[in-house]
Amino acid sequence: MKQAFNDFHDSMEAHDDIVINPGNNPSLDQLLDGGRRRLLKGGIGIAAFGFLGGGLSACSTASTNTSAPLIGFHGVPPQMEQAFDRVVVAEGYTARAFFSWGDAVERAATPWQADASDDWRAQLLQAGENHDGMHFFPFPEHPNSHGLLVMNHEYVNPTLHPNGMSKRDGKRPLHEVRKEQAAHGVSVIEVQKDASGTWQRVFPSRFNRRISALTPMRISGPLAGHAAMKTVADPSGTEVLGTINNCANGFTPWGTYLTCEENWHNYFVNRDTQDYAQRISHKRYGISTSASKNYQWETADPRFDATPDAGKEHGGYVNEPHRFGWVVEIDPFDPHSKPVKRTAFGRFCRECATLSLADDGRMAFYSGDDTRGEYIYKFVPHGRYDARNPQANRNLLDSGILYVAKLAADGSGRWQALVHGANGLTVQNGFASQEDILLNARTAADFVGATPMDRPEWAAVHPVTREVFVTLTNNNERGKKVAVDAANPRPQNLHGQIVRFREAGDDPAAVDFKWAIFLLAGERADSKDANGKPLSPNLVGNINGDIFSSPDGLAFDKDGRLWIQTDYDDDAQEMQAMGCNQLLCADTVTGEVRRFLVGPRGCELTGMSWSPDGRAMWINVQHPGISYPASDGKTRPRSTTVLITRNDGGVIGAA
Ligand code: FEO
Ligand code: CA
Ligand code: CA
Ligand code: CA
Repeated sequence: MKQAFNDFHDSMEAHDDIVINPGNNPSLDQLLDGGRRRLLKGGIGIAAFGFLGGGLSACSTASTNTSAPLIGFHGVPPQMEQAFDRVVVAEGYTARAFFSWGDAVERAATPWQADASDDWRAQLLQAGENHDGMHFFPFPEHPNSHGLLVMNHEYVNPTLHPNGMSKRDGKRPLHEVRKEQAAHGVSVIEVQKDASGTWQRVFPSRFNRRISALTPMRISGPLAGHAAMKTVADPSGTEVLGTINNCANGFTPWGTYLTCEENWHNYFVNRDTQDYAQRISHKRYGISTSASKNYQWETADPRFDATPDAGKEHGGYVNEPHRFGWVVEIDPFDPHSKPVKRTAFGRFCRECATLSLADDGRMAFYSGDDTRGEYIYKFVPHGRYDARNPQANRNLLDSGILYVAKLAADGSGRWQALVHGANGLTVQNGFASQEDILLNARTAADFVGATPMDRPEWAAVHPVTREVFVTLTNNNERGKKVAVDAANPRPQNLHGQIVRFREAGDDPAAVDFKWAIFLLAGERADSKDANGKPLSPNLVGNINGDIFSSPDGLAFDKDGRLWIQTDYDDDAQEMQAMGCNQLLCADTVTGEVRRFLVGPRGCELTGMSWSPDGRAMWINVQHPGISYPASDGKTRPRSTTVLITRNDGGVIGAA
């Protein structure tokens, strides 16, 4: 089962399969000194952050200048065992399976069946599959013992069904498709410490909620009601069913969750190759022209068939792919609230939407577009967050400026505004309107000369300095159509890198920034080739400490420790030195990286959040390959949220 399972997961990583970016943009052409530069620490706190910051809470007057070392645990070794199906965490810590696929969420949920015989209606009330990005929202009265844990369910595995995914006469059975749709989306669960101080899931709870690929959502912002958003089922262009491929995430200061739609294009097909050739909103995102890459839902559910149908209003479902690729805002504290797709953020294959908040309430949300050679974006709302006026914050995400990053070889950079009329984004140049630019954000970013990156995944913002770190997970095509450059310096980049950005004046809304490579994964600082020469003599930032590949999940805790989660094929020959996927902790001042936890074989580790006091940490084990969390080698594997606590009750990772 394991090999088939791994092959399946690899095939789901469709951003590895094709280069969609036409590769016209100039890449940086020389190595820079900027990568060597140690960016200076800033010194302003974020005292006004408010209680909902979770890991970045008001209690975080995070100081990075204490004499105690930032990282205080003993690292764990890599795990090379082929049948490794556990979680190993640093000595003095406990990791406990907390919330698995199929666990009861909504009040009427039935117990998960080990043979996966639960039908789609049962699945709608249970935890979805492939847990990914996640955030803990504390209740203000008891922030360190009571909250809501909200997480994404990115996609589904064949193990969702008793005997895998099937087809009859070329069609997917509707009951399987519905179960797969039900297992996508988001879970909201109430969590609380019990009398003994142990975190538990609360069930039943009025807050517990499943959001799926079938949940009605409001389309908001510039594209709401636009002709490009109308379908035969929604002539208003203002309501869409569900969210899909929710990878990483974000949150707002006003206590809402942001879930991001990543590889949504793999769920659609447009068989009209002539139409496809000129429909940039399909083609530039890599929608298939033969059958959808993921699951072929279109054979049972017509809204995933985006082939134009001239006989139907608004061309049938030709516009349905326009209704995905957005940021979805969810209010976890109101279980009856309708999720909202915020179109001002622009449409691409978005990994995350990570907040940076200035003292005066201005904000930026940073996002990667995780496809080879795609870009790093930020969205700056026009309005400011006002803690004293909660209602005024409700629609702040409906207007603002979308920017894309252009990095220069000297370590400087500029955010290029994707605004109609600016930077040549005019009618004459093929951009009809601001709505057109947002719908086709990649094409607009191509035009303004954005820098193609090695698959941008998560962004993380330092709780004190507001320095932004971004994972570039890998790019085995680098150096072919798109040349190496200062920020993406390795051809056929198997292991990825982490890049750091510093906004001018530490202002989230700045248009200028400085950048540098924080580390190149896959090589230790002292790596030598067979002749004893340094492996990459011209490169800076090689790992100082424990080795890993393909950084993906990335987040700062309240004290400024940078936590790195990996996602590589742990069966691949070139990953043998790495062992199974892992969670590491980095000191961004000294550059040291230390391995904190290793996951079961076949999994990736993704999603992380903390209680505001930093004494509880949740992470997700996604698509474990063998039997996790049962560890009996027989039971079907289940994606699982893991709770990590320190046996002495201390802050996770600290000395
Ligand atoms: Fe779903 Fe880019 O990882
Ligand atoms: Ca994933
Ligand atoms: Ca990811
Ligand atoms: Ca990944």
